[in-house]
Amino acid sequence: MHSPIRIAPSLLAADFSRLDREIKSAEDAGADWLHVDVMDGHFVPNITVGPFIVEAIKRVASVPLDVHLMISDPAKFLDRFIDAGSDSINFHLETVSDARELIARIHSHGRKAGVAISPETPADSIRPVVEMVEQVMVMTVHPGFGGQQLLPECVEKVRQLARELPSHVDIAVDGGITDVTIAQAAAAGANVFVAGTAIFGLSDRNRAVATLRRLAEGAWSRKSVNTSKHTSN
Ligand code: DX5
Ligand code: ZN
Repeated sequence: MHSPIRIAPSLLAADFSRLDREIKSAEDAGADWLHVDVMDGHFVPNITVGPFIVEAIKRVASVPLDVHLMISDPAKFLDRFIDAGSDSINFHLETVSDARELIARIHSHGRKAGVAISPETPADSIRPVVEMVEQVMVMTVHPGFGGQQLLPECVEKVRQLARELPSHVDIAVDGGITDVTIAQAAAAGANVFVAGTAIFGLSDRNRAVATLRRLAEGAWSRKSVNTSKHTSN
């Protein structure tokens, strides 16, 4: 079985004045996906990029774009992020009344769908959509800013999800993932690791990605839960 571990550098911590070179450095370092944080200043107290920038990123990126919508009305903007070239789209469960409808729309365009949950949102809340999604994204910080410290109670949520989710569903952790914290998230059952500061905050991206991957692989292979988990790409 090939490794289910995916390292997804978050461009939020990259230098946007030289984004093409930042993307290349992450890809050369072995990034599996690129994580793009979209914030609207309403669902979260920060504003980042819109579909126009996602489209520009798509033009220079070689690996899949995993887009994380931290916006109050994902249904309204979904088509624009699809057209911009998002390979997977994660929206926050807290922002929608009919998550199943939105997931079906994402799938109808041949993209992967993920649901993200903020620290206050219980793991149980994803039950109604669990059979539909490719990924569950557990926020391990309060969404809105990079460089925060991981909240340990969110790792417990990962552990619960790893027990309950079908083995083909990726469990992503986002926020505060570093060489100090990644092993505990992997041991709890996460297999996708979003990391901004821990990759773009360091000048040696090869070393940063390799270290995170080694620690995640080690913890993953030692963990006792859900040993049959794998991913589709
Ligand atoms: C936070 C974003 C994260 C952020 C992670 O709201 O969703 O993706 O970039 O940044 P670090 O890895 O620095 O905690
Ligand atoms: Zn994110």
